[in-house]
Formats: sequence, C-alpha cells, structure tokens
Amino acid sequence: MKIASIIGARPQFIKCAPVSRELRKEHEEILVHTGQHYDHGMSEVFFEELAIPKPDYNLGIGSGSHGHQTGAMLGAIEDVLEKEKPDVVLVYGDTNSTLAGALAAAKLHVPVAHVEAGLRSFDRRMPEEVNRVLTDHASDLLFCPTETAVRNLAAEGISEGVFLVGDVMCDAMNYNRAVAEERSRILEEVGVRPGEYFVVTVHRPSNTDSRENMCAILSALGEAERPVVFPVHPRTRKHLSEHGLLAEMPENVRVVEPLGYLDMLHLMAHTEKILTDSGGVQKEAYMLGVPCITLRENTEWVETVEAGWNVLVGAERGRIADAIRHFSPGSRQNEIFGNGNASILIGKILARFKSARSG
Ligand code: UD1
Ligand code: UDP
Repeated sequence: MKIASIIGARPQFIKCAPVSRELRKEHEEILVHTGQHYDHGMSEVFFEELAIPKPDYNLGIGSGSHGHQTGAMLGAIEDVLEKEKPDVVLVYGDTNSTLAGALAAAKLHVPVAHVEAGLRSFDRRMPEEVNRVLTDHASDLLFCPTETAVRNLAAEGISEGVFLVGDVMCDAMNYNRAVAEERSRILEEVGVRPGEYFVVTVHRPSNTDSRENMCAILSALGEAERPVVFPVHPRTRKHLSEHGLLAEMPENVRVVEPLGYLDMLHLMAHTEKILTDSGGVQKEAYMLGVPCITLRENTEWVETVEAGWNVLVGAERGRIADAIRHFSPGSRQNEIFGNGNASILIGKILARFKSARSG
C-alpha cells in the first residue's frame, strides 16, 4: 500500500517517528514536509535524533497568515498527490499542515487517515480546534488516542472508521526515554539539579500575542523559589521581543533555544513541575508522572485533569503562583494514553483497509 504522510510542525515530526518506522515494515511511505516549521531546532533536529527518513518532498511553504499558509500548502500538496497517486493520505494532529493535507486528499477522493482524531477543546477561537473538526469530518480512518476522543466523534455523528489505538506520543516516549537518559546533558548545560527546577513552555497565540498574559505568566514564574527553564518557541521569542519582555525576564528564569526531543524529554522527566500551554507537553507530563500546570482555561486532554495530574490556571498570576506552590496530585496513574503500541495498530488497520478496498 502506498501511503503519503503529511507533516510540517514540531509535534508532527515526533508523532510520525514511531509510525513511519512501523509503516515502512509492510507499506510504501512517501513523506511530505510542508515546511511550516523550518528552523533547524524546530525541524531538522528531530529528523536527526529520531532517525526519521528524509522527506521525499519539502514544500518550503514557511510562515504566513492562516489563509495564505494553508492555501499555499493545499495547492502544493495537491500537486504531490496527483503525481504520486497514494492509496491513502496520513495526517497528524491539528496544525494547518494537517488540515491542508486532509483537504487536498479529500478533494482528490484519496482516503484520509487522521492520527490523533477526535480531540476537542470546544474552543473555536483556537486555530487547532477548527483544524481538528474539519480534518475529522474529511477523514475515512480516525485513529483516536483516548476513549474521550471516540465519544467526541460519536457526538458529531462519526462512528464509521473510528479506531481506539492509543497515543503515538506514548510510543515515541517509550522508544526514546532510555536513550534520552543516557545521552542528554541538558541539566548540566542549563545548570539545574534533578527535582529542583521547573520547566515552562508557552506558544499559544492566546498567550504569546497578549502582553498582559505574558506579563502575568512571567511575574508568577518570578515568584517560584527555584530556577525555571524556558525553551522559547520562535513565535514566543518574536512576541516577547515586541512586548519588550525579553530584556525583563525574572532572574530565576533561564531562557534557552527550542530543545531537541531527547533534551526536552530528559528535562521534563527530572523536573518538579511543568508549566505549559502545549498539547503534547501536557500528555508527556502525565506519562512521566510529573504534575502539570496548564496555562489555558481549557484542554483537549481532559483525562489528565480528571486524573488529578493537570490543573488549568489560565494566564492569571495568582492562580499560576498558587499552583506552583501547592498543586500536588494525589491519585495513582492509569494508562490513559495506551501502552505504546499505537503505531503497530495503525499499521495493521491500514493493511486491512487496503485489502478490504482491493477485495
Ligand atoms: C503551530 C501550530 C500549533 C502547534 C505548533 C507546534 C497551526 C495553526 N499552529 O503553531 O497548533 O501547537 O505549531 O509548535 O498550525 N517560526 C519561526 N521558525 C520556524 C517556525 C515558526 O521563526 O521554524 C515563527 C514565525 O514567526 C511564525 C511563527 O513562528 O510566523 C508561528 O509559526 P506557525 O507555524 O504559523 O505557528 P506556531 O505558533 O508554530
Ligand atoms: N518539544 C521539544 N522541544 C521544545 C519544546 C517541545 O522537543 O523545546 C516537544 C515536546 O516534548 C512535545 C512536542 O514538542 O513532544 C510538543 O510540541 P509543541 O508544544 O510545539 O506543540 P503542541 O503539542 O502544542 O501542538
């Protein structure tokens, strides 16, 4: 079976690594990088560290407004699909690259398979929520990471082609956890000791684009009685600089460039708590057994909150500072993201899909 996988942003490189490895055992895969993320630290480092095959196509789309970026991807992906004629197009997550891939395929009547289907924050102001809903409704195979995702799809009338496979980020973590432990020197490099620091990531437009929100977050971080390591996403760096806040970092906040996956994993595994507005980082915190303070008012990863390991605090200084001091999960952890074999299941389901269509 010929599969065209569409990727373009940091979390998609990490998600595709275990899936691509598995698919190539029995399928032909064409890897298409839209070029949405292009800095070495946002793209190439993941290909190197995770041994992801070199993309067959890099469309070089780059940054832009939502409409321009998604539109440029749509045309360029269509050209690739017309040339390659894949049996199925595989898309990941909820970025503009996801939507463009799904739409280009659906318009050409090529079946779409969506990894991380069914997630909902129920907040349509998030560009990702629009991308998720539209992608799911254009998909023929929907690979759900959680039971909640399956229920969300059912509530929208989607039940055919839905498979609960677990989360491919769990596969990626299982595969790389020991490697990160052995290879990463990030704690020494940033000068922190295990269990005696916090990690923060922020890149949601609702936070980065608001000076007020960023001031509140930084002010709360400044109250933490520990060093805070802050790998800064390029979007965040740009806005911090525009807001005049880069020069005003609290003394205990250590700003670093975006990290490779192994360093990030190692840093998260040994931190006391994680503060983030990322989707993937909330899940990884849970899988690593690290308390997570989410700098948003909602989340699509509701199970982490229900389990008591994640708390939603928005961008309010007082709530963030309080959670840094007092948030402490009490309950034990369950395997809510599967057991690390999502990629294997995806490979098998795709093989069955192919034989059902050709038979
Ligand atoms: C995108 C996704 C978001 C995902 C995130 C993962 C959409 C709508 N958003 O957000 O869902 O959580 O990726 O990190 O698809 N930039 C660089 N270098 C790069 C990439 C980006 O400097 O390699 C800067 C540019 O100024 C760009 C800005 O970051 O305008 C935002 O990049 P973009 O890909 O549009 O959105 P993200 O915020 O990265
Ligand atoms: N990540 C990374 N380096 C960083 C920040 C994040 O490798 O400096 C990883 C993180 O561990 C997770 C993924 O990137 O696997 C999450 O991506 P991001 O937060 O950019 O996007 P989201 O998950 O919110 O879409």
